[in-house]
Amino acid sequence: MAKNKQQTTVFFCQECGYESAKWFGQCPACKSWNTAVEETVKSNKTGGLGGSSQAVLHKDKKSVPTPVSEVKAGDEIRSDTGMAELNRVLGGGLVSGSLILVGGDPGIGKSTLLLQVCRNLSAGGKKVLYVSGEESLQQIRMRADRLGTFNENLLLLCETELSEVESAIETVKPEVVVIDSIQTMFNAEISSAPGSVSQVRETTARLLQVAKGLNTAVFIVGHVTKEGTVAGPRVLEHMVDTVLYFEGDRFASYRILRSVKNRFGSTNEIGVFEMRGDGLTEVANPSEFMLEGRPEHASGCVVACSMEGSRPILTEIQALVTRTNFGFPKRQATGTDFNRVSLLMAVLEKRLDLQIGDCDAYVNLAGGMKVQEPAMDLGIVLALISSFRNKPIDDKLTCFGEVGLSGEVRAVSQAEGRIREAAKLGFTTVILPAACMKGLGEIKGVKLIPVKTLADAMNVI
Ligand code: TYD
Ligand code: MG
Repeated sequence: MAKNKQQTTVFFCQECGYESAKWFGQCPACKSWNTAVEETVKSNKTGGLGGSSQAVLHKDKKSVPTPVSEVKAGDEIRSDTGMAELNRVLGGGLVSGSLILVGGDPGIGKSTLLLQVCRNLSAGGKKVLYVSGEESLQQIRMRADRLGTFNENLLLLCETELSEVESAIETVKPEVVVIDSIQTMFNAEISSAPGSVSQVRETTARLLQVAKGLNTAVFIVGHVTKEGTVAGPRVLEHMVDTVLYFEGDRFASYRILRSVKNRFGSTNEIGVFEMRGDGLTEVANPSEFMLEGRPEHASGCVVACSMEGSRPILTEIQALVTRTNFGFPKRQATGTDFNRVSLLMAVLEKRLDLQIGDCDAYVNLAGGMKVQEPAMDLGIVLALISSFRNKPIDDKLTCFGEVGLSGEVRAVSQAEGRIREAAKLGFTTVILPAACMKGLGEIKGVKLIPVKTLADAMNVI
């Protein structure tokens, strides 16, 4: 048998891509259990899988170190995707030659989003190639008909064989390529099944070469495993320039596009979309959208202001505190951290002498939002107090601030942005940490109430 065609079996961790010659129950790298899968790989001359891609990329360059001051920066060329929400998440537009991974649950709208982006880019005169391994040309056409009119700059290709896709890209020379999805692409040189770690990794490495070599922007669609990560995730996340996750409740109409890694912009930015009968529409003002249909004068409801990247979002927090009927109090949190809610209840019990510890408590962020920011603390606490006392809080009041273990209200960043957003939506009172008042000018139409401790905040409401 020729040496470079030798077949070996290797075990891969499906979570992090860890590679081992032996089977393992727990992955030594990421410590997850039962993630080992056996794959047959043909070892080629260069050795490891995909490990050679970076070397190939730079093969023509001499390895001479250059002082950073002498490197020409050269502005990256950004193009407008025709969607302000997506531009923001990408850090100001689509960078040519970048590799973008779009992850998300099946059916969330990844193909729809990318087809709409393709339409906008091709309408702007760019040559776009949409490669689908999942749907037939007719199916894509049917979807396209729902989304509007497309021009001849958008080319479709139904193909799963990687080398065919590569040669199509080389002949067409598009400026933007969409690969839908990476799990269906198949590299004939590797004998394992499509979607396996080695296939996904090698395919991405080859697409990376194409993207950098031809200066083509490549969108890669990746399905999410039931653990909530793109299959073979960490390996992919290292290789690509930008990782976007498309999330949201399948049963609610809005979708959130979140950037978790971006070499060309800041992370934590979100874009908000609404799924309609004719595709995705942008939601320019998510706070308004989230606050729609808010109950009036209801106890346990507070609007809190959190930041998503550079963008303030007002969310309604609902709390329900009731007497426990069984011996063991029940706690539940939706959209926010369960442990955080337990901790805040303990602070309330200890610092404000509220007998809340033996009550059932449910906390819910309305609209299905997920927010982890500590600035939500004050809102959660006020909602809990309001429900516990059964006293509604003023509808025109909003708040933000982190709560510490001794019951102090601590400063959070970007106070002014939050207050301005509240003012824009017609809120007249804002409770905020006293430490945030420094350097804050007057903001028209809003009364600011600085608080130092939880006791102060409780007195205000
Ligand atoms: P799709 O983009 O196929 O999801 P993914 O590629 O992430 O698997 O989205 C499919 C869902 O979106 C499907 O349930 C129908 C819905 N949809 C609409 O509500 N309106 C539309 O205009 C389109 C095209 C899809
Ligand atoms: Mg799809």
